[in-house]
Amino acid sequence: MLVPATLLGGRSGGKWQILCGNVGYDAVMIYLDNNATTAMAPAVIEAMEPYLRGMYGNPSSTHPLGQQARQAVEEARYRVANLLGCGASEIVFTSGGTEADNAAICGVLLARPDKKAVITSSVEHSAVRETLHVWGKRGIRVIEIPVDRNGQLDMNRFSEALCDPDIAVASIMWANNETGVLFDIPEIAAICRQHSVPLHVDAVQAAGKIPLAIGGLPIDLLSISAHKFHGPKGVGALYVRRNTRWVPIITGGPQERDRRGGTENVPGIVGMGKAAELAHARVQNPRHDEHLRRLRDLFEDKILNSITDTHINGSRNGRLSNTSNIGFASIEAEAILLLLAQHEIYASAGAACSSGSLEPSPILRAMGVPDRIAHGSVRFSLSHENTEADINAAVDQLSDIIATLRETLPVV
Ligand SMILES: Cc1ncc(COP(=O)(O)O)c(C=O)c1O
Repeated sequence: MLVPATLLGGRSGGKWQILCGNVGYDAVMIYLDNNATTAMAPAVIEAMEPYLRGMYGNPSSTHPLGQQARQAVEEARYRVANLLGCGASEIVFTSGGTEADNAAICGVLLARPDKKAVITSSVEHSAVRETLHVWGKRGIRVIEIPVDRNGQLDMNRFSEALCDPDIAVASIMWANNETGVLFDIPEIAAICRQHSVPLHVDAVQAAGKIPLAIGGLPIDLLSISAHKFHGPKGVGALYVRRNTRWVPIITGGPQERDRRGGTENVPGIVGMGKAAELAHARVQNPRHDEHLRRLRDLFEDKILNSITDTHINGSRNGRLSNTSNIGFASIEAEAILLLLAQHEIYASAGAACSSGSLEPSPILRAMGVPDRIAHGSVRFSLSHENTEADINAAVDQLSDIIATLRETLPVV
């Protein structure tokens, strides 16, 4: 193991440069965990650097150092708005996707105290699920709409639930973090509008992967997070459509036009702006998505053809092109991940935050995936940096690992 090591991040020919002390190594690492987080793009690091060094002004200061920082924050806001297809004034910077989800849900519930119910899906990320759980304990009714075996939302149940006059907000994700399954947000937004129910969309996994163009859709609030699209960790954004009934949850100074108190994370916001600009160019280019889809389909076909009793969770159509959630029946996913990691192949079982527990993921449970498959389900999530060589190497290792585990550690 090359630890302690400083990852320099420059990738070439499937190898990563690792610096250990003064010695440089080329280590073969295959990173297939891009839904957990992504490598920061070199251009993002470059854009942030001046704001970590000399340009350290507070955007609220009126002197030139402060005003430089203010300008950088506003340029980043413009870039993020461009990625989403909305107005720059509708973007509020946050500390990440979790804060954006909390701010959206709590902010609408606090602004609409006369309404006592919320609609959500049964497969949301814990940032939404746990926030609603807390509101449930405070007397808010949480109506969970089920999904089918492919992870698709029951649209009849969703439409019926919207007829309840007590609904304050619907919170529905765009792309699922574990399976990559996409909900039909344009359709969902249209139905919410028909019922005059505000819609919050958790687009943390969708932003930077698919075109969003939300300006033309009746979405009221939407969350994104920079580290999911090659930006820095600890910075995100909440889109709040003009005239939405919503109140801020973080009070303090007048930053973010009184919508989120606290001195801005200037380097993080600058990095997010650069990452948004790069992501915008990628999602506009159909060849980017084709590349990912080709790799993902190759990966899935090879696995299905070479490893028996293997199942893809979530249908191939209507799914992010970068995500494969694969159930290897009768094995524990944790054992697979451990052996893959020994070969420097990195993936996840379920949400990163719930891995470490041997409970099957609540998302796969909600989809009705049987326990013998859910226990052995691994999420592989690609990025544009992955190559066909990565896929071939990962499949070869997986075939050996699954055969070994089924022989030595079978789980009934
Ligand atoms: C769908 C979804 N929502 C919210 C989050 C939370 O984002 P953050 O890590 O920026 O807090 C994640 C992170 O995995 C996610 O996948």
